[in-house]
Amino acid sequence: MDCFNDLADFSAAEIRELITLARRLDDKPEPRALEGKVLSLLFLSPSLRTLASFQSAMIRLGGGTFVIAPNMSIHGLESRSGIVMDGVAAEHIHEAVPVIASYGDAIGIRAFAKRENLDDDLADREFRELTALVDTPYINMESAINHPCQSLADWKTMGDLGIPANGGKFVLSWSWHPQPLPLAVPAATLHMAALRGMDVTVLRPEGFALPDTIMEKARQAAATSGGTVTETDDRAAAMQDSQVIYVNSWSSMQQYGNKHAQDKFKLELRDWCVDESWFDKAASDCRFMHCLPVRRGVTVTDRILDGSRSVVIAEARNRMLVQMAVLHRMLSGS
Ligand code: CP
Repeated sequence: MDCFNDLADFSAAEIRELITLARRLDDKPEPRALEGKVLSLLFLSPSLRTLASFQSAMIRLGGGTFVIAPNMSIHGLESRSGIVMDGVAAEHIHEAVPVIASYGDAIGIRAFAKRENLDDDLADREFRELTALVDTPYINMESAINHPCQSLADWKTMGDLGIPANGGKFVLSWSWHPQPLPLAVPAATLHMAALRGMDVTVLRPEGFALPDTIMEKARQAAATSGGTVTETDDRAAAMQDSQVIYVNSWSSMQQYGNKHAQDKFKLELRDWCVDESWFDKAASDCRFMHCLPVRRGVTVTDRILDGSRSVVIAEARNRMLVQMAVLHRMLSGS
């Protein structure tokens, strides 16, 4: 495996094989599988789970990691092309990234969306520019438009819980959030559930429809797997018989990159905070999923998050296990 960038690069059968390997590595640890191997971790955006789970995954397989992030004692990093570097930044990513990559056998890169230009973010322009600078295998640890490690973990989590793939009813819901958040998690999650063969409904208020390219990619995945993809702003209709509600927030495409306009646009939407009333018509054991971090009392109530519906800790632990499978495939030579 040369890169792990997008679940769309894999068939549903190949994804199931990765999840089978993740389960095997959990049941029968292989503490020498990646002995002597090094994973470089470049975090241009913050993290708790991704950072800790990749470090833990490599340690459990006998390898090691090192981390580089802008808030460490490194020289300021410049990313603009054609710039005269007479400001604070003393190093350009054109040198820094290949140097960092050269110290490892593979590199994980995280770079969130800049949220200035929708077309740039949809094209994953910054992440593509970064990966073009490395000649080792690489892993997308969340880019502007993708979060494949989270989606692989979420696929496994649903399998662990016995949530059916084909015909399972999955709701991806927008929630209120003080920040206009990126599209990476909703785009990756929608595609993942569609590729898993589920009947997926995107529940969002008017003005928060996902871009056509994201919806179309999910519809194509659904067409290969027997799933369906629909969207609505009708909460009761979406939640009818649902087995999973996966909650996230994202920017309105109408004011993309304009936080002030976004703030005004969503003033009346504070009730998009998941509480028990959302589950009135759902399956009795409908699960609450979220990639974390989550804002209590803003996105979801304490009662849901602390209750039996919530599977957020299992999702986070599965990050480590599926990343072990990806690293094993990428670096063990087997
Ligand atoms: N879900 C996730 O990627 O968490 P972090 O941002 O903490 O890595």
